[in-house]
Amino acid sequence: MVNILLIGNGAREHVIAEAIVLSPQKPKLFSYMNSNNPGIAKLSESVQIGKYNELDKINAFAQANAIDFAFIGPEDPLSQGVVDSLEEVGVKSVGPKKELAKLETSKSFTRLLMKKYSISGLPAFRVFESKDGLKEYIDSMDAFVVKKDGLAGGKGVLVQGDHFETKGDGFRIALDMIENGDAVVIEEKLLGEEFSLMSLTDGKSLFDFQPVQDHKRAFVGDKGPNTGGMGSYSTGKLLPFMTEKDLSDARIITEKVLAALKQETGLDYKGVMYGGFMITKNGVKLIEYNARFGDPEVMNVLPILKNDFVAVCQAVIDGTLSEIKPEFSSESTVCKYAVPEGYPDNPVDGKKIFLGEVPKNVKVYYASVDKRNDGLYMSKSRAVAFVGIAPTLEEAEVIAENGVCSAQGHIFHREDVGTKELIDKRIKHMGKLRF
Ligand code: GLY
Repeated sequence: MVNILLIGNGAREHVIAEAIVLSPQKPKLFSYMNSNNPGIAKLSESVQIGKYNELDKINAFAQANAIDFAFIGPEDPLSQGVVDSLEEVGVKSVGPKKELAKLETSKSFTRLLMKKYSISGLPAFRVFESKDGLKEYIDSMDAFVVKKDGLAGGKGVLVQGDHFETKGDGFRIALDMIENGDAVVIEEKLLGEEFSLMSLTDGKSLFDFQPVQDHKRAFVGDKGPNTGGMGSYSTGKLLPFMTEKDLSDARIITEKVLAALKQETGLDYKGVMYGGFMITKNGVKLIEYNARFGDPEVMNVLPILKNDFVAVCQAVIDGTLSEIKPEFSSESTVCKYAVPEGYPDNPVDGKKIFLGEVPKNVKVYYASVDKRNDGLYMSKSRAVAFVGIAPTLEEAEVIAENGVCSAQGHIFHREDVGTKELIDKRIKHMGKLRF
């Protein structure tokens, strides 16, 4: 019997929990969450609620349940060093140690690593710890991005044209960060189409998932503020606007970064490397790495995985990942999030969401919802994700749309995720940039 600890409480962890309990090894799942996710709780033997920096509490929960290994879902516990802490009590994890999680937690670490090892895909950038030369560097750029060096709950990346208009505005934002004691990365703004490429690794080999495209803007037509991600799609192979070379270029970047991490730290990175890439007119560039699965992107890839996910995790821990051949169904997937009205800037709080009659062919993953005696309540974040899986993207989109439309309450979603109209726009955009 395998006992597995899952840390995290979002839809990302709900789909991970599902993949774990579907294993033919019939594992027992124990979940540590900072607030209860009823979907995860339903799949778990037992649940512990606690903060992600309560490392002793996490260790005690792991020891009390004779945990064989832990899967760390979100970046927060990774940045707290939960993997190092669990290892002290003999529990290995799918998730990088704190030093390696810098891949996500420090923007400057990853940029400087790529520069040191001459890894392609690097935009023009400089790291500033003081304002010396900041204005001159900004003046030398066309459009630019200000990145706070460190986790900022999705609020640390500010893009000219999206979050601020003039060079002066960007300069003041960067200066504020520096005066607050943060280092800042200034880099060129990339133009193109984004995709996410997620891989599991044992520190030596990569187990790749399909490329996925997320939709960060809140409203139809890529309008409105940036969000955690309103929905995503995959086709089982390439995305419609990308070439085989785009995918292999991104993969090579991840391979080289993995080798550089080993060289630099002497440690094997065990966990997820999730690259956010941009296909530009000058080739594939890295926007950033995350040390965890993407949300919603993981809901596109785990449900079509044919391998035993627990065996894949065990191979990550044992360093035998190269012995497992990734197997997926070749279906397309579309994920659409129902979110509270006003999300992300001014969301309604504590309102009910009614799921009604969700069609049977729709997969449903809970994110930020609480189950009470009288129903399901939302908080201020993304509430419930609906996933359609089908032989074609068109069919998968219709399934996901029917799913999300079956939910009611003070909610909205992006009707255009995965639609032909939006995908044609992406293809046209990429075509224009390439030629
Ligand atoms: N899909 C965005 C993220 O997971 O960070």
